[in-house]
Amino acid sequence: MLTIAVSKGRIYLEALPLLAEAGIVPSVDPDKSRKLILPTNRDDVQLVVIRAADVPTYVEYGAADLGIAGKDVLVEYEGEGLYEPLDLGIARCRLMTAGPPGRPTASRRLRVATKYVNTAKRFFARRGVQAEVIKLYGSMELAPLVGLADCIVDLVDTGNTLRANGLAPQELIMDISSRLVVNKAAMKMKHGPITELAGHLARIVSARA
Ligand code: ADP
Ligand code: PRP
Ligand code: MG
Repeated sequence: MLTIAVSKGRIYLEALPLLAEAGIVPSVDPDKSRKLILPTNRDDVQLVVIRAADVPTYVEYGAADLGIAGKDVLVEYEGEGLYEPLDLGIARCRLMTAGPPGRPTASRRLRVATKYVNTAKRFFARRGVQAEVIKLYGSMELAPLVGLADCIVDLVDTGNTLRANGLAPQELIMDISSRLVVNKAAMKMKHGPITELAGHLARIVSARA
C-alpha cells in the first residue's frame, strides 16, 4: 500500500488533476465526507487528508510514504527525514515581507508577525536586522493594522489580501510551489512503486511546462 498525504483545500484541488493523470482517483470527496483516509480507484494507493503544516511530519515519521507540501511549509519544518524529488509546479505564490506602505523595514528592532517563525528569523538574521518574531496561525495581514507588528511574513499570490488591508509587498523571501516529498525508508522499501509514481508525475509536470 502507498499512502499519500495531502492537505485539503488549494493543494488538494490542484493535485487532483495531476494524480488523475497519473491514474489515481480518490473514491471519496473530502469536502462531502468526514473520512480522513480516502480510498482510491487503485487498491494499492490511499490518500490521507491533513493540515498543510502536518504533511512533512506524517512523511518524516513514515505514517505516509509520500506527501504533497508547499515549499513554504517544508522550509519552515526544517526536517531531515524527507526526500524532495519533484517540484509539482502547483499552488504557486511568493513568500514575502509586507507592511504599511512607505515605512522602512530596517530602522529599529522590528516586530514581525507570521506563521513562518523559523523562516522569518533566518531571513532577518541574514540581513542583520534585529527582529522580534510573533507567532500567529493565520490572518497575518491584520497584525500591522492593529499595532501588533510592524510588518508580516506571509504568502502573496494576487496581492488582493494585502491591497484589501492597505498593505504593500516589500521583499521577496522565496518563490513557492508544492513539492512531492518521500519518506527515506519508504524510498528503499517501496522503491519500485514510488519511483514509478514519481516518474509518472515528473513526465506530467514537464509536459505542462
Ligand atoms: P492553510 O490552512 O495552511 O493556510 P492553504 O490551503 O491555504 O492551507 O495553503 C496550503 C499551501 O498552499 C501553502 O502552504 C502554500 O504552499 C500554498 N498557498 C497558500 N496560499 C496560497 C495562495 N494564495 N496562492 C497560491 N498558493 C497558496
Ligand atoms: C493565503 C495567504 C494570504 C493570501 C494571499 O491565505 O495567507 O493571506 O492567501 O493570496 P492573495 O495574494 O491572492 O490575496 P488563504 O486564502 O489561504 O487564507 P487562510 O490561510 O487564512 O485560510
Ligand atoms: Mg491558507
